Amino acid sequence: MCGIVAYIGHKSAKPILLEGLKRLEYRGYDSAGLAVMNANIHVARTVGRVRVLEEMLKQHEGFDGTLGIAHTRWATHGEPSERNAHPHRDDESNGHGIVLIHNGIIENYTVLRKYLQDRGHTFQSDTDTEVLAHLIGELYDGDLEAAVQAALREVTGAYAIAVICENEPDVLVVARKGSPLMVGVGKDEYIVASDSSAIVAHTTQAFHLEDYTVARLTRDAFRTTTIDNVPISPQIKELEFDLGQIDLGDYEHYMLKEIFEQPQALRLCLKGRINPRDGQVVLGGITEFARDLVKAKRIIFVGQGTAFHAAMVSEYLMEDLAKIPTEVEFSSEFRYRNPIIQDGTVLIAISQSGETADTIAALQEGKQRGALTLGLVNVVGSTISRETDAGVYLRVGPEIGVASTKAFLGQLMVATMLATFIGRRRFLAADYVSSLLDELETIPDCVEKVTQLSDQIHDVTAKYADRENWLFLGRGYNYPVALEGALKLKEISYIHAEGMPAAELKHGAIALVDAETPVVALALQDELYDKMRANIQEVQVRGGPVLAIATEGDADIAASVDDVLWVPSCPEELAPVITAVPLQLFAYHTAVYHGCDVDQPRNLAKSVTVE
Ligand code: M6R
Repeated sequence: MCGIVAYIGHKSAKPILLEGLKRLEYRGYDSAGLAVMNANIHVARTVGRVRVLEEMLKQHEGFDGTLGIAHTRWATHGEPSERNAHPHRDDESNGHGIVLIHNGIIENYTVLRKYLQDRGHTFQSDTDTEVLAHLIGELYDGDLEAAVQAALREVTGAYAIAVICENEPDVLVVARKGSPLMVGVGKDEYIVASDSSAIVAHTTQAFHLEDYTVARLTRDAFRTTTIDNVPISPQIKELEFDLGQIDLGDYEHYMLKEIFEQPQALRLCLKGRINPRDGQVVLGGITEFARDLVKAKRIIFVGQGTAFHAAMVSEYLMEDLAKIPTEVEFSSEFRYRNPIIQDGTVLIAISQSGETADTIAALQEGKQRGALTLGLVNVVGSTISRETDAGVYLRVGPEIGVASTKAFLGQLMVATMLATFIGRRRFLAADYVSSLLDELETIPDCVEKVTQLSDQIHDVTAKYADRENWLFLGRGYNYPVALEGALKLKEISYIHAEGMPAAELKHGAIALVDAETPVVALALQDELYDKMRANIQEVQVRGGPVLAIATEGDADIAASVDDVLWVPSCPEELAPVITAVPLQLFAYHTAVYHGCDVDQPRNLAKSVTVE
């Protein structure tokens, strides 16, 4: 949610900032802006993508300085418009030339705005961010760092900010609480950004700013303090990020690239972690807590969106394989529900980015109430990975497309390994684990086989592309996959879709079924196959077209439904990793058919860093 990047050094800031914004654009893209210090601060802002800003800057002079800040926005307060785009300034008539970019939400901005208005401030935008710029201006007394600290002591909410001031043309002040921010440390230069993708082209040395921390950067030095001005020493670390991984290559969209990367990503996810011959799972990140996990009395998974669907599958896995009572909750609901955490409760946060605000808050809530906390996270060094007691990285590589694909599969693989790791130490027989791990090892190949059906899926898509409503049905392990399939279709093609447990259909939603409302039925040859076939018939007798996801070779189902997408046979607890793939491709081809912006769908941001 909003990407921020700032630079201070000896190079021209503008190209570095624009390049950084392009890397961060997946975080928000309804407007963009940039400010460069060049005697005065020059500001450019526009509605739309970074490329619009770039074009606009070609017609403007004065953006030649070596200190600057830039922002790509996902609107929270104030519609997407030029006047609400960042950067924002402090008061025009009584200000000090303070300019700021912000990711997050200032929750008490109404009170602060009123206070500032009473003191004569006039606001140009509807944003909470402008209020913070004015507040810093109001408290400024010749020291930008001190003014930022003082202002941040007054605000509640979340922020990652970068601030510059015309009175201090060689100083960049940045700060963080709740929203991510990293400082890249180069030779006589610093580049600050929401994530490492905007930093690695310049330096691989970086530190994360902790909550309530401010950094004052000049070209050759920096210092970090708390907002109460207590000095702190951050730990500079080597960034592990290969820029090649985020090249689009020959693919038209990141989403398609990431779908096709899944087999290899899963091989990396499994590498060195399973040993089918000995029936062993090795998860280095949790070894220290193995005993606590084995003795756990209750497990709670939390996540949002696709990560929530992975959490639902994880609940089935944990109860089946580890036999530990398990629950799953939206992070956003868990934290406001006064949850009861007894001794022996383990809270497991699932997140691709590791920065989802609600999931971070749920994790903090669980921790504060005494739960052991784990993270199943993709982004190394992200907030969730740092704040949990232990965790397992997905290791599927950077995911750029807003629609989560390979991270979902990685989450399922890691959850399977975790449940097996615990189950093996509790009661699962070595033979059983060996054969499960044998199967797990074949999953990347199965996924590869399904990706090869992309052209066929494309043709099926064309047949149904004009339908405006879809239902997705699944049972057991494939119920969360039905939800995920519907989410994929909604988020990138803007077509209404609902996922549900197949048996739930006749409790209401069956009223929607007609010849214009196709139903996707996940109907594998598993324990629930016959029940699923009965549900399919209920749809068919009401005229609903059925597209089945079925087990290769199931001639029976092929003869009885309108269309089939085949998946290889596998144990039912591993099926979601495979059945999700045709649904990803189905959503992808539908979105392309409709000319939608697949990688940056309207109204969405990759990482939801506000609650
Ligand atoms: O980074 P996270 O996994 O915590 O993100 C959670 C959701 O915001 C995310 O899965 C979202 O639902 C995706 N757009 C789904 O494709």
